[in-house]
Amino acid sequence: MGFDSKFAKNIICIGAGYVGGPTMAAIAAKCPQYKVTVVDINAARIAAWNSDHLPIYEPGLLDVVKQARGRNLFFSTDVAKAIKEAEIIFVSVNTPTKTFGEGAGKAADLQYWEKTARDIVKASEFDKIIVEKSTLPVRTAKAMERILNANDKGIHFEVVSNPEFLAEGTAMADLEKPDRVLIGSQLTEAGLKACESIVEIYANWVPRDRILTTNVWSAELSKLVANAFLAQRISSINSISALCERTEANVYEVARAIGKDSRIGSRFLNASIGFGGSCFKKDILNLVYIAESYGLHEVARYWESVVLMNEYQKRRFVQTMIRVMFNTIAGKRIALFGFAFKADTGDTRESPAIDVTKQLAEERAIVVITDPQAMENARKDLESCISQVEFASDPYAAARGAHAITVMTEWAEYKSLDYRRIYEEMEKPAFIFDGRNILDHEALHKIGFNVFPLGTAAWKHF
Ligand code: UDX
Ligand code: UDX
Repeated sequence: MGFDSKFAKNIICIGAGYVGGPTMAAIAAKCPQYKVTVVDINAARIAAWNSDHLPIYEPGLLDVVKQARGRNLFFSTDVAKAIKEAEIIFVSVNTPTKTFGEGAGKAADLQYWEKTARDIVKASEFDKIIVEKSTLPVRTAKAMERILNANDKGIHFEVVSNPEFLAEGTAMADLEKPDRVLIGSQLTEAGLKACESIVEIYANWVPRDRILTTNVWSAELSKLVANAFLAQRISSINSISALCERTEANVYEVARAIGKDSRIGSRFLNASIGFGGSCFKKDILNLVYIAESYGLHEVARYWESVVLMNEYQKRRFVQTMIRVMFNTIAGKRIALFGFAFKADTGDTRESPAIDVTKQLAEERAIVVITDPQAMENARKDLESCISQVEFASDPYAAARGAHAITVMTEWAEYKSLDYRRIYEEMEKPAFIFDGRNILDHEALHKIGFNVFPLGTAAWKHF
């Protein structure tokens, strides 16, 4: 039983990040009958959630937060109190790739998850449902259930897996109209009851036929596999972009032609500098680690190649830059248009721009970074090469005096800049490397630029 009888359910979420914050805001907005509290150990983050300057940039998020905050949506650092009062606890703490010990570089680091499980045991006084929102290796729910239920208070914890499929930049729309909601549980009576209790939450706005229930391991694995399949499409088209650049084929034309095949479909076929984001690489490496741990080496190699192709694409891009800029970029200013891993977010986790900047800095270029939302994160990411880096919030200022512009993020505003003005203020010959294929290459070439798109012939003046 919850403490606050005014509300039909008392739900909390531990971890107020990119996943926990938007997901709970959506639940609270859709279900005013539930009390939703989001807790985090990071006091600055919680203070930001309680202000008009949310800790993450996500279109539409502030409106949804404002609609429910103070009514049935609360943000707090008092983790123990929230746990004590909750009937349902979503856990959305980070599960980064391990950087040490067994499985370093591949396996998930579960220390925050396990610590959270122990905090839950400590503060609890009655039975609870624990919902895995963090992406976790298959079978984690089982391990967590053991830790949770090894308590001497006679309290029962039922663990269900409810992976999140939202993509950053479109999180609010994804939460509003998800392709599917997936809930995995034990197939015992208690497990199925817990599952139904989570189904009930989403059924407030998601049609029942979009709410899938499975066993807990299928749910855990499906999250990794969904991300692996999405990333695989990008690596596949990126591998073809390399081939197109050497032949007379054009990667857009190829993508359009294959995408019309309804069995393939047209989405996620944009050749790019490489995929970034907190999930794709981490989840694939996790899948690789799991396959290896079962002795399935061919399966592991197969999925690992998706990540290797992504690394190759970033390297290849920088190699092209150096080659065409007369084999030296030392001392040259290079403006990076965009630093976020995709448009409409300030998130820079695993952004290809990080690797590209570091490689350019190693070649002793001066890298000038501009991005409408990600400058603060960029500064933190680039500490190791900060002496080679400058920041300019205005893209015109970033490009002034530069030898080259490289488009790293597909922000819409980069399409409508006055490139004639930019060209006039740049060093000549002026280069544009379009790592997102968003600009009008022919028009830029007419202005005077040497343009290097991905996966199609370059537009050169020499
Ligand atoms: C996280 C995981 O990275 C991802 O695997 C999972 O799918 C969803 O949750 P995200 O929300 O993007 O994704 O992570 P992040 O923005 O880092 O947020 C995690 C939050 O948990 C942080 O605010 C952190 O302070 C908090 N946290 C972490 C706790 O409150 N307690 C802890 O013990 C550890
Ligand atoms: C992804 C999944 O889409 C989401 O379902 C899951 O919950 C979390 O991981 P996210 O990382 O936020 O979401 O963004 P996504 O739109 O998938 O893009 C990931 C990366 O792939 C970005 O760097 C993006 O620019 C890149 N990308 C995407 C391409 O390079 N080409 C494409 O065609 C699509």
